[in-house]
Amino acid sequence: MSDILAELERRREAARAGGGERRVAAQHAKGKLTARERVELLLDEGSFEEFDMFVTHRTTDFGMAESKPAGDGVITGWGTVNGRMVYVFSQDFTVFGGSLSETHAQKICKIMDMAMQNGAPIIGINDSGGARIQEGVASLAGYAEVFKRNVLASGVVPQISLIMGPCAGGAVYSPAMTDFIFMVQDSSYMFVTGPDVVKTVTNEVVTAEELGGASTHTRKSSVADAAFKDDVETLMETRRLIDFLPSSNLEKPPVRPFFDDPNRIEESLDTLIPANPNQPYDMKELIHKIADEGDFYEIQEDFAGNILTGFIRLEGSTVGVVANQPMVLAGVLDIASSRKAARFVRFCDAFEIPILTLVDVPGFLPGTAQEYDGVIKHGAKLLFAYGEATVPRVTLITRKAYGGAYVVMSSKHLRGDFNYAWPTAQVAVMGAKGATEILHRSELDDPEKIAARTEEYETNFANPFRAAERGFVDEVIMPQSTRKRICRAFASLRGKKLNNPWKKHDNIPL
Ligand code: HXC
Repeated sequence: MSDILAELERRREAARAGGGERRVAAQHAKGKLTARERVELLLDEGSFEEFDMFVTHRTTDFGMAESKPAGDGVITGWGTVNGRMVYVFSQDFTVFGGSLSETHAQKICKIMDMAMQNGAPIIGINDSGGARIQEGVASLAGYAEVFKRNVLASGVVPQISLIMGPCAGGAVYSPAMTDFIFMVQDSSYMFVTGPDVVKTVTNEVVTAEELGGASTHTRKSSVADAAFKDDVETLMETRRLIDFLPSSNLEKPPVRPFFDDPNRIEESLDTLIPANPNQPYDMKELIHKIADEGDFYEIQEDFAGNILTGFIRLEGSTVGVVANQPMVLAGVLDIASSRKAARFVRFCDAFEIPILTLVDVPGFLPGTAQEYDGVIKHGAKLLFAYGEATVPRVTLITRKAYGGAYVVMSSKHLRGDFNYAWPTAQVAVMGAKGATEILHRSELDDPEKIAARTEEYETNFANPFRAAERGFVDEVIMPQSTRKRICRAFASLRGKKLNNPWKKHDNIPL
């Protein structure tokens, strides 16, 4: 009996050794943790239960029969994050460069299937040279099986991808279909074709970092949602994100203990809006002052700064926030910000996370660049996302709510539940200057007349009361009582039930 136990221990040790000391040292020398170290850090201590530790590949070509490391380059299983179950796979770069074989894919698929059946998030740690070259099409088929499950799991359980090394070629499309992608600065990259192919095809000379590093994907392409300085920070931030999310689309987000009075009055908010309507202010200040303990988990912080997206808690419950940011491009809606916010709104709606929308928007960005790149279609994404959302929604207009952008930003007309405005709100077709110049074009060379007309327009339209008279704004509230009013509004919506008409699926303008 003791021999059998010793044999099990010996086999486990061999599997835990991955690609051996030399390759582990090389991994550490790059500033990267091993696949196992990452899982240990991500999950609650001692909670990891491993599957398929002894799986090996079945290839015989290229002398592969001689090398069959246990686990086949990926560690899979489940564990907990602050007590809540998650499924995880972690590719082991020290074994065949973490490349994906048929059996490696089967291990990933097994835990994806279990995650869907049991209603728990899937966290994929990617560190791989891509398709296992020795396996050819069997490896491609393995990727396809993973892709298929990414699609089926979308909107069923949250899927989070951590890019902690190479992720190239078709392999990028698995993370691309997940809900959130986090990258590690300087040690991860994603691209469809690498720098060498780029040079051959387009003659561009570009480094891997420039082509698909963390900075590129968080600032330019918006493929990634955040980047962190190293593996440890990335794993810790993933734990924080998981805490905000429900385990599946059938569960409510977790409610955490909170130590912040929901009735907290913030007198400083009464003076947040500057006297000059063209002067910016920081919308993040408002978000921090509304949130429990001032905690705002921002998503896509480095992309399209004219709109803010992220999670807060109110009375311990997760709320998704979408807010125009007057500090960047005056908070205008453009292609980038519409896409960013639309995807966020759809994530929240898919997972029953209520949405708070803070509005200070001068309209859509004019210009040929925007029109040629399809601002109509991309702007429609945000309109569509709000229009179809059935989760509890509270909207607050702090200042400008002009034109089409007023309608888009979770207006009453798009089934906003509580639509509040501060007394400083201006709900109108456009700003006073633009409106006056159109309505009184013939008086443009008389500055006095124009000034009088502008003042007249401001008195009539640059306020929340025209909208409130029609019930498009439910109430004009005091800025200092914002947290209290918003908490009460969401509390009253906990039993909300709203369904869209039956359809196979919608046809959102992609
Ligand atoms: C098998 C691989 C491998 C792969 C790396 N290795 N990639 N083995 N299949 N795809 C092995 C290496 O032989 C080496 O083995 C070990 O992993 C580490 O690789 P190195 O090259 O020494 O590491 P490094 O210098 O850090 O370079 C990493 C790398 C490079 C940039 C990822 O290995 C690379 O370019 N690999 C090939 C990438 C690629 O073209 N993959 C196919 C992409 S297409 P030893 O034994 O020496 O440790 C694709 C299609 C997916 O993935 C389609 C889905 C539909």
